[in-house]
Amino acid sequence: MMYRNTKNGYGAIARWMHWLMALGIFGLFALGYWMRTLTYYSPYYKPAPEIHQGIGLIMLALMLFRLFWRITNPSPDHAELTRPERMGSALLHWGFYPLLIVMMIAGYFITTLDGRPIHFFGLFDVPSIYTQKGLEKLAGQIHWILAYGIIGLALLHTLAALWHHFVKRDGVMMSILKDPD
Ligand code: HEM
Ligand code: HEM
Repeated sequence: MMYRNTKNGYGAIARWMHWLMALGIFGLFALGYWMRTLTYYSPYYKPAPEIHQGIGLIMLALMLFRLFWRITNPSPDHAELTRPERMGSALLHWGFYPLLIVMMIAGYFITTLDGRPIHFFGLFDVPSIYTQKGLEKLAGQIHWILAYGIIGLALLHTLAALWHHFVKRDGVMMSILKDPD
């Protein structure tokens, strides 16, 4: 098993983070969408946002580690791709990082701008670092606009991956699924 990336493909750490986070992001999107429809009388009214915030904070920590990993590892150069294909995928891959980090930080601020901490699965509290009443509305707007944008880009990214595998039949899809040769 290869842990680090090489010029030929992604190592196990990058692959596991990619798929764990893909699952987490789609899951949190569905949970976020659903929890907004709950009324005060639902038994999930309190636990659903707490689970959303807890998993969201894990995603934020993973994301920061993933950024570090990406910067300190080589990126596979798919020599078989055309120049526009390589530029397009680099733009999208690098775009995901700031969009995700800003979206998650906005999520943290929705909950904590009024001074309340986040109860991390009842284990410990993540404190509020900045308090300003009224700003949580803006944080909420940034959070959902970016969440919808990221899901849109992720669907485009998925279509591109499937196109590479089934139409172009190159090695792009396999590079995020198995050890490099
Ligand atoms: C991958 C990460 C995340 C995704 C995909 C995501 C997605 C979503 C979505 C789709 C909504 C519903 C938005 C709406 O329709 O108004 C939402 C709401 C919310 N999210 Fe997230 N979220 C993520 C991370 C986080 C994090 C890290 C936190 C906090 C630590 C957080 C806190 C919240 C809160 C408090 C709401 C309720 C907003 C409101 O009631 O206005 N989220 N999220
Ligand atoms: C929310 C979901 C997703 C996000 C945010 C995401 C993000 C990324 C990022 C940032 C990379 C570059 C490698 C890295 O920095 O780790 C990548 C690579 C890749 N992803 Fe995703 N991804 C998601 C879901 C998917 C899905 C569902 C598929 C396929 C069905 C997929 C297929 C691939 C492939 C094939 C690569 C390698 C591309 C290359 O090296 O040119 N991804 N993804």
